[in-house]
Amino acid sequence: MWVFSSVSSNFALRNTIKNIQNVNYLIFIISMEKKFKRTLITTALPYANGPVHIGHLAGVYVPADIYARYLRLRGEDVIMVGGSDEHGVPITLRARKEGITPQEVVDRYHAIIKDSLEELGVSFDVYSRTTSKLHHETASEFFRRLYDKGEFTVQTALQPYDEKTQEFLADRYVLGTCPRCHNENAYGDQCEACGSSLNVTDLINPRSALTGEPVKMRETTHWYLPLDKWEEKLRHWILDEHKEWKTNVYGQCKSWLDAGLQPRAVSRDLKWGVPVPVEGAEGKVLYVWFDAPIGYISNTKEILPDSWERYWKDPESRIVNFIGKDNIVFHCIVFPAMLMAYGDNFQLPDNVPANEFLNLEGDKISTSRNWAIWLHEYLKDFPGKQDVLRYVLTANAPETKDNDFTWADFQARNNNELVAILGNFVNRAVVLTHKYFNGVVPPCGELQPVDTQLIADLKTTRDALTAALDTFHFREALKQAMEIARLGNKYLQETEPWKLAKTDMERVKTILNIAIQLCANLAIAFEPFTPFMSKKLLKILNGKDINWNMLGCMDLVPANATIGSPELLFEKIEDDAIAAQLKRLADIKKANEMAAWKPAPQAEEVDFDTFTKSDLRVGTVIECEKVPKADKLLRFLIDDGMEKRTIVSGIAKYYKPEELVGKQVCFIANLPPRKLKGIVSQGMILSAENSDGSIVLLSPVGPVAPGSKIG
Ligand code: MF3
Ligand code: ZN
Repeated sequence: MWVFSSVSSNFALRNTIKNIQNVNYLIFIISMEKKFKRTLITTALPYANGPVHIGHLAGVYVPADIYARYLRLRGEDVIMVGGSDEHGVPITLRARKEGITPQEVVDRYHAIIKDSLEELGVSFDVYSRTTSKLHHETASEFFRRLYDKGEFTVQTALQPYDEKTQEFLADRYVLGTCPRCHNENAYGDQCEACGSSLNVTDLINPRSALTGEPVKMRETTHWYLPLDKWEEKLRHWILDEHKEWKTNVYGQCKSWLDAGLQPRAVSRDLKWGVPVPVEGAEGKVLYVWFDAPIGYISNTKEILPDSWERYWKDPESRIVNFIGKDNIVFHCIVFPAMLMAYGDNFQLPDNVPANEFLNLEGDKISTSRNWAIWLHEYLKDFPGKQDVLRYVLTANAPETKDNDFTWADFQARNNNELVAILGNFVNRAVVLTHKYFNGVVPPCGELQPVDTQLIADLKTTRDALTAALDTFHFREALKQAMEIARLGNKYLQETEPWKLAKTDMERVKTILNIAIQLCANLAIAFEPFTPFMSKKLLKILNGKDINWNMLGCMDLVPANATIGSPELLFEKIEDDAIAAQLKRLADIKKANEMAAWKPAPQAEEVDFDTFTKSDLRVGTVIECEKVPKADKLLRFLIDDGMEKRTIVSGIAKYYKPEELVGKQVCFIANLPPRKLKGIVSQGMILSAENSDGSIVLLSPVGPVAPGSKIG
């Protein structure tokens, strides 16, 4: 084993200036280069009330991991912290529904989340949980200090109360009739039928979701953090000092600030959470959004009990929060206000590169509707394909707008990009080196214009890649990394070493040396995105100890080094694997539709005489066959006890004709005859439409003489 040699590749950031559109990012890069000695990367703590899905990954964990791996390759001092958010109402709701304790809920999902993120290669330095003793102590101490400093105000308000269970109810626990659309199952904060957002007091006949009892309003007292006190500081810090933040983040902050900040309650009447550490606060816990971000501090403490403060309080340290867009206000306004109120040199985040949302096959991802691709299930269905998911979620990341994940795109990106471009180039380079030189890397001779052009293109690409990573443009960065493989394919296509092998072996040596150097560059460039592939490729090249400065170098693999045998880096994903996933989603959609199905409202009254004018009867099917050139229609010959009659019915999709012969059906006998596809239909066969839209024929429970009247 040899170590990649690194010739000083002085890729001055200045060179990237031309690739950077946004001047603010330029300022940011230069200031980063000057100012920061270390970086703390935080990832939003996922609620432990379910597993993580591709939306969490695309929004938070994959980009954070790319960034952390990139900084580590640059040799920077960086730690990445994460953990499960184990408090809050949704967890108690789930526990109640399943008849288990909240602790059992979070134990189950914390384990699934932690293991699956690890298997995906998300390189946390610590992944902890907010039920830990250390976190409870840290959050308690934080609250207590703010309390002692007089940073809270106290307010008394009316809250819904369930007298049967003797507890206050979170808004979600209150059901009632929506004042707008009269849906009887609207929640205290929202009506899902008409989409209105509501207050508990808007509901007509509010009742407890726990017991169904009518709710009473009761007075309760809570501590509030007066955000208005910090408004000016926040305004200056974000709007003046952080113009380089992503426009979606900056814009959301600006609209919050422009609307004016209000005090926010930081405690709740709930049994599950960090108890409020103040006398007389029995039955109250810290609001989950108060304790969760403190989890970032607890988690840093957990791995660095003696030196955690370096990452939080040293102005030469930098904190970057990776989150989804629904978390912006908490990370840019509320938590910073908490940190300012705490004082003691706590630093505010330097950047909060929040992403928009990822949809799945055109619909919003939803844990409650099971409309998601769950990471732990993906890992089971596609073993060894962590990089494919990482790649697709990055290539399609919702960086500036909501984006859609589709299985067709997943398959296409794997087959047409990872296999056909990246895998293909590396395979060709390694196979040719084995074919002509028995796997021994040939020396590089004199360079021709095509070679120098390639090297120049590689360096330009490297600069663009670096600039994109520095500014959190990970989609663009991935495109640039892939560009290196494209350059490689183009180079082999242009130089055609397999033809030259017959005439000019010296030239072939140079070409393959260059191709192998490109492979080493790919192993480095892709490490942040697809670390498993990178590791495999490095093993083939017998390389280790890579760093970002090596990128762009053409002497990474020394001449005369022996490389390993070719191994496929990616494999084609076949149609049946994709079809199986699409079927799973279709089944979920159907189940959701059936769960949401309601019978049609009752029709207007008719008097008895009107009803009895319809002549409904039972008949026996004598013949049944498909109507030619009409895929929906069946022709029946019915024994109606009289003449026999022909009826045409549009149910061919639901029944095979032969299975209906001999069955008894119900029909309307006195409709005027109607011509359908040239056949005169004398009546209509009765059927019911099921919740999934399918049609079921009606039949008497016991045998009846053909022609019997129904009524
Ligand atoms: N659990 C929250 C969510 O999923 C995120 C919490 S992030 C933290 O939206 F900052 F509070 F930790
Ligand atoms: Zn409504």
